[in-house]
Amino acid sequence: MEMKIALLAGDGIGPEVTDQAVKVCNAIGEKYNHQIIWEKGLIGAVAMDATGNPYPDETHKTCLCADAILFGAIGDPKYDNNPSAKIRPEQGLLKMRQSLGLFANIRPTFTFPSLLHHSPLKKERIEGTNLVFLRELTGGIYFGEKGRKDGGNSAFDICSYNKEEVKRLAKKGFELAMNRKKKLCCVDKANVLETSRLWRETVQEMEKDFPKVEVSYEFVDAVAMRLVQWPNSYDVLITENLFGDILTDEASVISGSMGLMPSASIGEKNALFEPIHGSYPEVAGLNIANPLATILSAAMMFEYSFGLNSEGETIRNAVNESLKQRIITKDLVNENERFSTTSEVGDWISKNL
Ligand code: IPM
Ligand code: MN
Repeated sequence: MEMKIALLAGDGIGPEVTDQAVKVCNAIGEKYNHQIIWEKGLIGAVAMDATGNPYPDETHKTCLCADAILFGAIGDPKYDNNPSAKIRPEQGLLKMRQSLGLFANIRPTFTFPSLLHHSPLKKERIEGTNLVFLRELTGGIYFGEKGRKDGGNSAFDICSYNKEEVKRLAKKGFELAMNRKKKLCCVDKANVLETSRLWRETVQEMEKDFPKVEVSYEFVDAVAMRLVQWPNSYDVLITENLFGDILTDEASVISGSMGLMPSASIGEKNALFEPIHGSYPEVAGLNIANPLATILSAAMMFEYSFGLNSEGETIRNAVNESLKQRIITKDLVNENERFSTTSEVGDWISKNL
């Protein structure tokens, strides 16, 4: 198969972790006889430095023409500490999500048998966890009207959703649940928020179309607690943009390191794959960041965008094997254990597919 992939490395550790995923994809291409054409694009702080725009039109065109997008990370501390900055690197990511219509963010959380001890949570609580969040990604408070009033002394961010936005996300959630344990949890704050009541009402109306799916409705504060108490009681969770942002960071603790969890952001036409971690500028360029989340995002890309399940499975198996043989980065080693560099992990996985 011939595949054109837009490669947006972004900021911080983005370039070094995406380099490893590219190596792994190219090795998969050789093994399974695929021709992968990489088209690079600028996004985030690097794009601002080069063009003044965190998501240049040129990058948008590259994404539109690609079969899939592989993305690294966004954010640079030099833009973080200035609350009055008009443009920020993160706006590039938000603009990309919105202009490509990537409304569903799929963020799985699972454990690796060889890393159970690495999570700060008790092994018996997290063992067997295999859940997936579907976070709404192009609506809610992130994209509502925002501004200042009273001469700058008061501020507002409006959260609004319409039924269609809830429906298309929830439909993906029901469909995903049908292929899994058939459990769907709608996470909201319907005891307080009107948008949450719309979410709940809409999902309730859809239940009849998916009679085999067992649906529960839980408040976001309770989910935040139960997620770390009994994570393996969940299967598919659907939620709005901001709740999903917060809960998926929390969920990454279950797997043991932020450097492990992949994600996919999908729309009607385009799909983007990225690690859930950020740009981690403190270690950028040091060749110590964990590339596994990006490599696993590439595995999701083969499956979701190209229907190539054995290619995805091959990558996941090699990742598991690297963990078993402890070819691991600094974030995962025990005290006094030797660690491998970012590129050594990428090389090892590419050679052991
Ligand atoms: C994420 C990130 C982004 C978000 C930031 C960088 C805008 O935290 O992908 O979860 O809040 O969505
Ligand atoms: Mn986040």
